[in-house]
Amino acid sequence: MNIVILLGAPGSGKGTVAGKVAAENANLKHVSSGDLLRGAIAAGTAAGVEAKGYMDKGNLVPDALIATMIKDVVASTEGEVTMLLDGFPRNLAQAKILEEMGAPVKSAVLIDVPDSIIQERIAGRRTCPKCKAGYHIKNLPPKTEGVCDVCGAELVIRKDDNPETVKDRLVVYHRETEPLIEFYEAKGLLRKVDGMTGVDGVARDFLTAM
Ligand code: AP5
Repeated sequence: MNIVILLGAPGSGKGTVAGKVAAENANLKHVSSGDLLRGAIAAGTAAGVEAKGYMDKGNLVPDALIATMIKDVVASTEGEVTMLLDGFPRNLAQAKILEEMGAPVKSAVLIDVPDSIIQERIAGRRTCPKCKAGYHIKNLPPKTEGVCDVCGAELVIRKDDNPETVKDRLVVYHRETEPLIEFYEAKGLLRKVDGMTGVDGVARDFLTAM
């Protein structure tokens, strides 16, 4: 097993690209830290209860909380699999924790989208709470409005997708997560993909870059 890290601002398209290429390539596994946390909240676990307060405000949850979840997934993944790690690491401390887990990082791919586009991307996002498929009301609409193409569940707007919280998430991204670009560049692992070429274009360039 090896790891490809997805870097990029909230709403840059990390989940969309990772979900698409993993659905089309059996040896790719998409692991989203946000989905793991939302799953824990939905299940009402102690970790979920703790995480919710941070997530609703657009802050990062404590490193140890998310690291435990990622460690479990890494430990249970075997064989010729490339894990597309979406949302972890989120700061330098988490990058060091990942190194200590011992799983080899093949590359870190930055999906590059200007901040000016982020609010529009997130305002139009609709998410399936059941199978996690993602949509956009203009860029990637479901066949039937408000209904998931994959599993038929009713699509929802994420609680942290309101404009005020998105502003805070962007501040957190620039302060906490952006330093990872330099961190992985120094290791020769950083690749950059233009996130403005449409979902198919970004997916194609991501596969080449990773
Ligand atoms: P998380 O769920 O990871 O959110 P995020 O990183 O803010 O990223 P998003 O899921 O918002 O965006 P995305 O880049 O996946 O974009 P998407 O593909 O949906 O984290 C949520 C919270 O959990 C955090 O705020 C934090 O509290 C906590 N958390 C998570 N991980 C943590 C960690 N490691 N440590 C601490 N706390 C953590 O695309 C967005 C929209 O654009 C969609 O509508 C999509 O259809 C559309 N779109 C996508 N690509 C394109 C394209 N190429 N062209 C046009 N439209 C596109």
